[in-house]
Formats: sequence, structure tokens, C-alpha cells
Amino acid sequence: MRTQVAIIGAGPAGLLLSHLLHLQGISSVVLDTRSRADIDATIRAGVLEQGTMDVLSAAGVGDRMRKEGALHHGFELAFGGKRHRIDLLGLTGKSITVYPQHEVLKDLIAARLAAQGQILFEVSDVALHEVSSTTPYVTFTHGGEASRIDADFIAGCDGYHGVSRPSMPDQAKRQDYQKIYPFGWFGILVESAPSSEELIYAQHDRGFALVSTRSPTVQRLYFQCDPKDNVDNWSDDRIWAELHGRLENHDGWKLKEGKIFQKNIIGMRSFVSAPMQAGRLFLAGDAAHIVPPTGAKGLNLAVSDVKVLAQGLEQFYRSGSETLLQGYGEQALKRIWRAECFSWTMTRLLHTFADHTPFEREMQRAELENIVNSPALATALAENYVGAF
Ligand code: FAD
Ligand code: DHB
Repeated sequence: MRTQVAIIGAGPAGLLLSHLLHLQGISSVVLDTRSRADIDATIRAGVLEQGTMDVLSAAGVGDRMRKEGALHHGFELAFGGKRHRIDLLGLTGKSITVYPQHEVLKDLIAARLAAQGQILFEVSDVALHEVSSTTPYVTFTHGGEASRIDADFIAGCDGYHGVSRPSMPDQAKRQDYQKIYPFGWFGILVESAPSSEELIYAQHDRGFALVSTRSPTVQRLYFQCDPKDNVDNWSDDRIWAELHGRLENHDGWKLKEGKIFQKNIIGMRSFVSAPMQAGRLFLAGDAAHIVPPTGAKGLNLAVSDVKVLAQGLEQFYRSGSETLLQGYGEQALKRIWRAECFSWTMTRLLHTFADHTPFEREMQRAELENIVNSPALATALAENYVGAF
């Protein structure tokens, strides 16, 4: 098999890249180890920045997102028994949309297949070869048969655990930057009406909690937990008691309960691996970087990486120039480091750290007070959250 760009991974990064390239007449084949049903069913991100919505809309895959996604003009910070609104629209002129990642994936897969795009699901033994040459290729097993794709370029969009990053040449010269947090998030999906019109990020001595939504009838809630805990240790009653405790307030607001139909625990890390390119292999999305979910940036970063990478590939195929491609990693990393900084800041601001002294706990509370009392600090937070620059 031959294609112009071989794409490893059918997550948001890989599928969007494939579609953006298709719109420019550039061919690609996408490979994924998982089945289409598994990909469709993975519950992950929910928050899309305006820039992400713009990219999806311009690529012709934004219709359902605009119709079914919920536009949010602000969110709330809750601490000390009170809720404080961060007016995203008023402070930045921009809003965010809550539209689940697996719906974005469904829209992208449908668009790729409608355009006769090639996505090979359930492949195994994926290996990258000759990535430092101008004739790289990928080998894999599909439907029990050994296969090979020859390409001009390989895009590694296979997430944190994929094969692309370890296949980058000059491993000894790679620099990995990493921070692992001593807590995780317990996530649940609940059948109920929304408890709040906007997302609530809550700081509490018992730990962080987040009230998010999926639809008028399904809600997404998270709370800080031990990353090694097991969902089986958490009965529904225990989960509700913990959430009510962390979301306690003096203004009469109450979390709505409902039937919990999904529980999962995720670990949290900050991670950047550089460089993002070597020879004809380019990394994009979680393959190159991870943010803790508190800032809601992971999916948005995957989209912004791919937008820059697609521009580089378009320039190459249009004019033969590699200028944009050569600058891809450097340009992408500028935004990535800012998002890493914001995600770390939000995580530090809102979670309970077991080793914090009483002094450090007061500093955390004072920092939150500063934000909700200073339009300048609130604006800076809002700008980062909506991805204003
Ligand atoms: P992935 O989505 O990980 O896709 C990689 C794909 O590659 C997968 O389909 C995988 O099966 C495939 N693959 C792996 N190995 C191989 C291989 N060897 N060969 C072929 N294919 C392979 N981000 C936000 O922006 N906003 C949020 O609100 C948000 N909330 C989150 C909440 C949670 C609970 C979690 C876990 C994440 C959240 N994120 C959020 C992060 C976001 O989900 C990720 O950053 C995003 O999925 C990255 O997309 P990707 O395409 O780079 O990688
Ligand atoms: C969701 C996830 C996040 O990480 C976040 O910051 C906000 C919302 C969500 O899954 O809805």
C-alpha cells in the first residue's frame, strides 16, 4: 500500500489530520489498534475552545457540535462555601462549548468514511521504519495478514502509550519533561438533569470536585481520588456523600443525584517530549504531551498541533518548501508550554495536597480569593481557559 502520509492513531489528532489533509487533496491512511466501537465508546474530554470549534467547523465537521453542543459563557469557582462566576464571555469575548470527545470522533470518522478515507481499525504489531529517510514505511498486521504502507511522511498521533514516540531516532538526545501528581480523578456519568447551568470547579479540604455535563439528561462529575484506588471501593452512596461534602455551600445550591452508569479513575501527569519531529516522523497530540485535565486543554492541544502540522504538509505538497514543516515542533511547543503552565496552575490551585502545611493551604485559599476579587487576575484565568491567545 502507498500513501502520502501514514497516520498512526485514530484519536482526535489522527482523524482530524487525515481530514484536513484530504481537504487539500493529500492522501493518508489511518491505523488504530482499537475497534471502531471501542473508539466511539471512550469517554474522555468535554470542553472545546472557540479555536477548536473554528477548526472543526472550517473542516466541515462542526454541524452536530454546533447543534448539540452546549455553549457556555462562564464557569464557577467554588470554595469556602461560596460560588464565584468567571464570566468568560464578558472578560475575553469568547466562550467554550461542552461537546464530548467521543461525539467529535464519531463526526470525524463519519466524515472520513463518507469521503472514502482509509481507516484501518484493529491493527496490531505496528512498527515504524526508516523515519530518517525520505522513504519511511509502516508495517503492521491487519485481519491476520502482515501489511506494509510506504509513505512520504509518518504522523505519530497514537497517544501517550503509542509506538511513535519510542520510534523517534536519537532517543539519547530526547528530553522528556514530566510531573506525576499524587492524585487522580474519579469520573462518573449520571442520568439526571444538569445541577448547574455552568461548570463548577470546586476546591475543598476533602479534595477537588468538578461538576460538568454531557447533555440535558446525562451529567459528568469528577472528584479527586487516590490514583491507585479501585472503583469497586466506591458504592453509589459513598460517591454521593463525598460529592455533597466537597460541594457544600451556604447559598442553597444542591447537586442533583441520579443513576450512576459509568465509573472510572484516571491518573494525572504533566508531560512534554521534545523534539516533536525527526526526519519524516512528526508527533502530534498526546503522543508528544499530556496535561492534567483540570485546565481542559488536552483535546484542544491535539487540534492545534494538527492544524499547524497540516499547514506544513500543505505547503510541502503545494510548493516543495519545507519551511513550515521544519518549524512545526517549535511553533506547536510554544502553545503547548503555555497550556502546560495553565493546567499545572489550575491543578495546584484546586486540589488538596496531602503534604501541604497549614501555611500552604492558606496560600492556596488566598490565591483563589485574589482571582475572584481582581478583574485583572480573573481575566488572565479566563483568557487561558478559552485559549484566547
Ligand atoms: P488519543 O485520543 O489517545 O488517541 C490515540 C489513538 O491511538 C487511540 O485511538 C489509540 O487506540 C491509538 N493507538 C495507540 N497505540 C497505537 C499503536 N501502537 N498503533 C496504532 N494506534 C495506536 N482534553 C480537553 O481538551 N478538554 C477536556 O475537557 C478534557 N478532559 C479529559 C478528561 C479525561 C477523563 C481524560 C482522560 C482526558 C481529558 N482530556 C481533555 C484530554 C483528551 O482526551 C486527550 O488529550 C485527547 O484524547 C488527545 O487526543 P490524541 O488524538 O492525541 O490521542
Ligand atoms: C470535563 C473535563 C475536564 O477536564 C474539564 O476541565 C472540564 C470538563 C468534562 O469531561 O466534561
